[in-house]
Amino acid sequence: MISNTGITLETVSRSFQGRGTVVQALDNVSLDCPAGSFTALIGPSGCGKSTMLRLALGLDDATSGEIGVAGMKPQQAAKAGLTGVAFQDAALMPWRSVEDNIALPLDVLGRKRSDFTAKIDGLIDLVGLKGFEKSLPGELSGGMRQRVSIARALVTDPKVLFLDEPFGALDQILRRQMNIELQRIWMKNRATTLLVTHGIDEAVFLADRVVVMQSRPGRIGKVVDIPLARPRLPEIFTTPEFHALEDQVAEALDGH
Ligand SMILES: Nc1ncnc2c1ncn2[C@@H]1O[C@H](COP(=O)(O)OP(=O)(O)O)[C@@H](O)[C@H]1O
Ligand SMILES: [Mg+2]
Repeated sequence: MISNTGITLETVSRSFQGRGTVVQALDNVSLDCPAGSFTALIGPSGCGKSTMLRLALGLDDATSGEIGVAGMKPQQAAKAGLTGVAFQDAALMPWRSVEDNIALPLDVLGRKRSDFTAKIDGLIDLVGLKGFEKSLPGELSGGMRQRVSIARALVTDPKVLFLDEPFGALDQILRRQMNIELQRIWMKNRATTLLVTHGIDEAVFLADRVVVMQSRPGRIGKVVDIPLARPRLPEIFTTPEFHALEDQVAEALDGH
């Protein structure tokens, strides 16, 4: 049993050498996401959100600083199947069925598929795709494809979940539905979650706290705590408390 499934970044910097210039994608970023917390990351395009996720996933190395994921180095955590990830583009394999796409991380990690039959069935149920197990991605709507990618992110039972604008390509109505769905899933599995989003409403609805980033250089501007009780019902979007929190995030985005 892993007791600490949090994410920690300690004075993390990542710079990229451009043509004659150095892009400081992340500049001295420190962030502590406790085990089981839900953190939303919001900020202008290019402020280093995806870079932060890539570092925490072990897909890229920091120029300086330390990153811990479930008490390990990011690559170790990924190899141990402790991390899950979903991106804006569902990025499904078009020739693989829904269930085979969900099983993909198991193949990558060399796990025995037959040990996970019940797990996969459960996930298909969880994301509301019962009856579509054998369907191909091309036969699904955008929202359904995105749900497959969420299920795929969960198949190893990750203790740490990274979501990079997973609903960014969906229309507003579908996005709301997916937000409600994600809250339900998270309340069940309580993975430490880091969600990158452009939606202030989405961030406030889902997170314990919203980390507002600023760009050039990429850094954390402000952290807005979201003290709303869960489950948060769809009606909450129109309450004064909700609007006040949205305003706080919006002001932080404007640099106040
Ligand atoms: N592989 C790379 N090579 C060069 N520059 C990069 C690379 N990845 C990201 N950057 C730069 O780092 C900055 C942050 O990028 P990114 O993390 O993708 O931002 P965000 O996800 O917040 O939009 C941007 O200026 C981007 O151009
Ligand atoms: Mg990005």
